[in-house]
Amino acid sequence: MKEKIEPAIGKLGILIPGLGAVATTLIAGVETIRQGYAQPIGSLTQMGTIRLGKRTENRIPLIKDFLPLTDLNDIVFGGWDIYDDNVYEAASKAKVLEPGLLSAIRPDLQALVPMKAVFDRDFVKNLDGTNVKQAKTKLELAEMVAEDIENFRNSNNCSRTVMVWCGSTEKYIEQAPVHESLASFEEGLLENDPLISPSMIYAYAAIKNGIPFANGAPNLTCDIPALLELSKLTQTPIAGKDFKTGQTLMKTILAPGLHARALGIRGWFSTNILGNRDGLVLDDPENFKTKEVSKLSVLEDILQPELNPELYGELYHKVRINYYPPHGDNKESWDNIDIFGWLGYPMQIKINFLCRDSILAAPVVLDLALFIDLAKRAHMSGIQEWLSFYFKSPQTAPGLRPMHDIFKQHIKLQNTLRHIMGEDLITHLGLDYYQDLVEAL
Ligand SMILES: NC(=O)c1ccc[n+]([C@@H]2O[C@H](COP(=O)([O-])OP(=O)(O)OC[C@H]3O[C@@H](n4cnc5c(N)ncnc54)[C@H](O)[C@@H]3O)[C@@H](O)[C@H]2O)c1
Repeated sequence: MKEKIEPAIGKLGILIPGLGAVATTLIAGVETIRQGYAQPIGSLTQMGTIRLGKRTENRIPLIKDFLPLTDLNDIVFGGWDIYDDNVYEAASKAKVLEPGLLSAIRPDLQALVPMKAVFDRDFVKNLDGTNVKQAKTKLELAEMVAEDIENFRNSNNCSRTVMVWCGSTEKYIEQAPVHESLASFEEGLLENDPLISPSMIYAYAAIKNGIPFANGAPNLTCDIPALLELSKLTQTPIAGKDFKTGQTLMKTILAPGLHARALGIRGWFSTNILGNRDGLVLDDPENFKTKEVSKLSVLEDILQPELNPELYGELYHKVRINYYPPHGDNKESWDNIDIFGWLGYPMQIKINFLCRDSILAAPVVLDLALFIDLAKRAHMSGIQEWLSFYFKSPQTAPGLRPMHDIFKQHIKLQNTLRHIMGEDLITHLGLDYYQDLVEAL
């Protein structure tokens, strides 16, 4: 595979529907890092390492030195939003980064103005913007997005583009007949089917043109048979859904440890307060439902109550999100976990995570963009399950249950990178060389 990877020559365009808190924190962050003012902390592609070969070989390069990834200096950003604020204005309003940091890179951010969005208020009731495309059919809207991409690519001289959805969480919908095949989806686009959401229109435009697509929100978006079919047809990598950051990140770090030690869990109550625009959107029950389904799914897979009914059969799992403007993007989460140990004796764990939502999400978007571009250059297509590491509700092949345990996801990601580069996969067995080491003493 290694010989067949196309090199990362030229500019990579990262196109983002939704230039809100996460996207502007990413864009301003990359610019700050490029100018040498800060480090890309939290980004595996920039700061992570990977062990190669046996432990005795001591080969542990930085991931960015091991893989032919795009250099940060070769990235160009573009995007769409329903508000016409440029990225400097949007980042200032999001209040994630300090004004001093933003003013140091002001001209670069001001130059980035959002393209007109594909938007339907029926999917996001709590927002209303005017920077929105008008067309008779959803098919025309998809064609307009494809045209935007083409114009962006030409005017920025990009050799490749990827798209990462950072738009608001859309209302909850389930897979319906219109999503079940490419033919029915395209007919739906023409007939303005109400179950085709704006995020699906962007995804369709990208995938149809062979542009890798990753979905950072919990909406179905590309997680429908029609767009999976299209991704195979156009040989395009896709991944989703819902960036795994704050509370769910903690959950998928802690739950595998408790499970590994066969400790029982009776209850897991998670609540959050956040006051950014994401919080405002999620204040609507229909939009919260999309997030709730995504957040609730993780424990089931990690604990597998059906295999361990004595330990997890009675587990009560509840997740709440409360909109609380004074906290802005600085989300605060509380978890109360009721566990039990030897002879059933109860214990409690309390977590109070004072996190920063977009600070955690920005490096995830960067890694996803760089890895999904690599996947395309390595001729991989369809669902990229090895990117589950970054998602709360990983998209998997139909019939396959997703893997939520962050450690398994990490091993899968690293082994995929080794596989792409023709290195031995690591099983952590060690027995093959342990005996030789002991005898050599
Ligand atoms: N921050 C995190 O840790 C995190 C984690 C997981 C998922 N997410 C998801 O990432 C997304 C972005 O989060 P955020 O904090 O930046 O939210 P945000 O509200 O600050 O930004 C979203 C932006 O998308 C725009 N938008 C909405 N619909 C659009 C459309 N159809 N086309 C173009 N733009 C559109 C909004 O105007 C807004 O500016 C949300 O869906 C959120 O749920 C965030």
